[in-house]
Amino acid sequence: MKITIIGTGYVGLVTGACLAELGNDVFCLDVDHNKIEILNSGGIPIHEPGLDEIVARNRAAGRLVFSTDVAASVAHGDVQFIAVGTPPDEDGSADLQYVLAAARNIGKHMKGFKVIVDKSTVPVGTAERVAAAIQDELAQCASTATFSVVSNPEFLKEGAAVEDFMRPDRIVIGCDDNSLGNLARAQMKKLYTPFNRNHERTYWMDVRSAEFTKYAANAMLATRISFMNELANLADQVGVDIEAVRHGIGSDPRIGHSFLYAGCGYGGSCFPKDVQALERTAQDYGQDLLILHAVEAVNEKQKQVLGAKIMKRFGSDLNGRHFAIWGLAFKPNTDDMRAASSRVLLSELLRAGATVAVYDPVSMAEAKRVFALDFADTPELLANIHYATNPMDALDQADALAIVTEWKAFRSPDFEQVKAKLKQAVIFDGRNLFEPAVMTELGVEYHGIGRSVLTRS
Ligand code: UDX
Repeated sequence: MKITIIGTGYVGLVTGACLAELGNDVFCLDVDHNKIEILNSGGIPIHEPGLDEIVARNRAAGRLVFSTDVAASVAHGDVQFIAVGTPPDEDGSADLQYVLAAARNIGKHMKGFKVIVDKSTVPVGTAERVAAAIQDELAQCASTATFSVVSNPEFLKEGAAVEDFMRPDRIVIGCDDNSLGNLARAQMKKLYTPFNRNHERTYWMDVRSAEFTKYAANAMLATRISFMNELANLADQVGVDIEAVRHGIGSDPRIGHSFLYAGCGYGGSCFPKDVQALERTAQDYGQDLLILHAVEAVNEKQKQVLGAKIMKRFGSDLNGRHFAIWGLAFKPNTDDMRAASSRVLLSELLRAGATVAVYDPVSMAEAKRVFALDFADTPELLANIHYATNPMDALDQADALAIVTEWKAFRSPDFEQVKAKLKQAVIFDGRNLFEPAVMTELGVEYHGIGRSVLTRS
């Protein structure tokens, strides 16, 4: 099939590359000349396992092209995916200016019938606004072209996006229940046929419900994490091991084991933004989402949990202290540092007077960029960050190690070397990577999340 993807960001690029891999003829459009140039010269602007090979293979086969030519992009695809960013506005609602601009461009140039797919995460009612924008452009040029807007939210996890796309748990598609909607449904059915061979994975629904499903899924996952984090903090107080509790409740099939890991808070581009956007939608309808307010508040507090533990141990004045941080990305297998807990911890340590050595397997360049923004008001503190070239180098003469991201590379370090490098063998583990009993045996003072009962002497 002939597909156009508007926006070669994270979602657009993965969607375009994977649809080309399935044999479709894919045209990826972006307004950012620089990005298109990188892609056309064989580069990949994001870090995503497996994506580079798929892009290279399909470019070489001529099934995947990157361009800034809007008219050509509209002419190409019978199905036009809108996968542009929806950054949060000042008030937390999703900013739809890029989505609506993409819709207008389609309206300006389209002929015949097009299926317009909202892939970006957009609030309920956006498909109607997209349709109105296209209709407005068609009316201005007295065009007789027709279209139907479909909602097909993505459920891709960063770091596993290619796998998630190629082997989806479910495909959610919302179509209008009218004749153009039925034409759109038939095209979407054809496009997703390869995923439904062994069993049907598509959930067909109305457009508004599909839009809402995406927010509901992320809000539910964020709720599970904040729920466990709040319980973990209580567990630390009352002498309970949160990991034992996780196993104990996860074995109930109604609860399940996934997304119950206590830690130093969730970050990334989706959970924080989508929870806020859903709260904002509710406010627009005069309703307060009390649970989601709490989910957000607990997460903000949780990002401070490592800093609080460090200050409890070393005092709130950290002048003369030096700490190591392992992991800067909001989660492993990505260089994404949006809303990452590491940024909160680093800021707390530096502002309390400490110096810090940081290490992350892939996000060191991104770290330099975001720290410059985070410390725009106090640029002199940037000199107190040392960018280590490997995990062990980061530990040199540090008073303690704090772990923020659960990269595989951090899971089984040579603890004798860790102890030898650190000034004192103290670890604050924001992702519960290690067993407290093993740490005690190794002579490491260990502070996990919700596990202090196992390290109390
Ligand atoms: C998420 C959704 O999982 C995905 O379906 C959606 O399309 C986009 O948002 P992503 O943001 O890439 O994906 O990351 P995810 O793996 O879900 O992790 C989000 C954050 O939650 C990370 O900071 C992670 O460390 C944290 N987390 C996850 C926990 O703290 N505990 C858990 O049990 C699971």
